[in-house]
Amino acid sequence: MLAALVDRYGPPEVLVIREVPAPEPGPEQVLVQIHASVVTPSDVAFRNGELWIARLFSGPFKPRLPILGDAFAGTVVRVGAGVTRFAVGDRVAGSTGPELGAHAQFAAVDQHGAIVKLPEAAAFGAAAGVCDGGLTALPFLRDHGRVEPGQHVLINGASGSIGSTAVQLARAMGAVVTGVTSTGNLALVRSLGADRVIDYTAEDFTAADAAYDVIFDTVGKSSFARCHHALKPDGIYLSPTPILSTSMLRKTGRRARFAATGLRKPADKAADLIRLFDWVRTGKLRIVVEGEYRLADIAAAHARVESGHKVGAIVVNMSVTSMEP
Ligand SMILES: NC(=O)c1ccc[n+]([C@@H]2O[C@H](COP(=O)([O-])OP(=O)(O)OC[C@H]3O[C@@H](n4cnc5c(N)ncnc54)[C@H](OP(=O)(O)O)[C@@H]3O)[C@@H](O)[C@H]2O)c1
Repeated sequence: MLAALVDRYGPPEVLVIREVPAPEPGPEQVLVQIHASVVTPSDVAFRNGELWIARLFSGPFKPRLPILGDAFAGTVVRVGAGVTRFAVGDRVAGSTGPELGAHAQFAAVDQHGAIVKLPEAAAFGAAAGVCDGGLTALPFLRDHGRVEPGQHVLINGASGSIGSTAVQLARAMGAVVTGVTSTGNLALVRSLGADRVIDYTAEDFTAADAAYDVIFDTVGKSSFARCHHALKPDGIYLSPTPILSTSMLRKTGRRARFAATGLRKPADKAADLIRLFDWVRTGKLRIVVEGEYRLADIAAAHARVESGHKVGAIVVNMSVTSMEP
């Protein structure tokens, strides 16, 4: 199979497309032919090696896992002898988890892992996008933010993968939602259901006074210290990028939380995927996809993600024909 490999840290050009053996599914595994995956800021961090925290996971001197990528959507092409939940031909989507490996044409996935059947009409690109932003936005807002109807929720980075999903989920949870983005993305964030939008190039949302129950900085551009006056007295600051521990940051009843959603139990992710795809099916959740790249152009996809300004998900199309010029 073809895969994008990274065997040393560096710029997008270190990625090479190479033929490697396809994985052999074990008795409890399905072999998925991947049609679409996404490139995320985590893939960029594991490829450029610039963050020490990323190297803690992916290897101090060279990448431990040469094939990056987590979210996938595709078709089951083989099943192990003990597989009962899936059959050849099923359209599926999911997350390969910490072992990555989704930037390839095939992946072996545990039948009890983070994998679900896709609704009939779901497109593979958007489905992979659900497994990216959805699997982070949902646990943050539901489990850590415990968002309730009528609460005021601010989403910073509202045009990104996590942010564009979070705006819609917070709204579906009954919150009054403020989305923060730059001028060019204001209309998009409004169209996702934000009650109010803030252009960060013109206004500093952290200057608000006790306005929000939840501030979810999906892109880690602020800090709890800067945001705590903008939180209500028992408000919570959420960040998917590492912050100091909650106890160190606890201030006057306001709290801060970081969580590594990628490390959640696969079964919990699968249960969330069923919910997320149901919301997609019923039109409550729209996955924003900025563009689709061929596997041959994955370096360009990385460069776009590395810019820090992608809108929604950047999809990579893994089909064989995508290698043709
Ligand atoms: N904790 C976990 O388990 C976990 C899981 C997944 C991801 N993450 C992390 O979560 C972060 C977000 O991921 P993502 O894929 O959602 O990011 P993303 O899609 O790459 O975010 C891009 C968006 O950020 C916006 N942005 C850039 N600068 C901004 C600023 N100063 N203020 C407000 N918005 C700004 C951009 O809007 P403009 O173009 O308008 O500026 C753009 O639309 C990444 O750091 C990722 O590594 C953590």
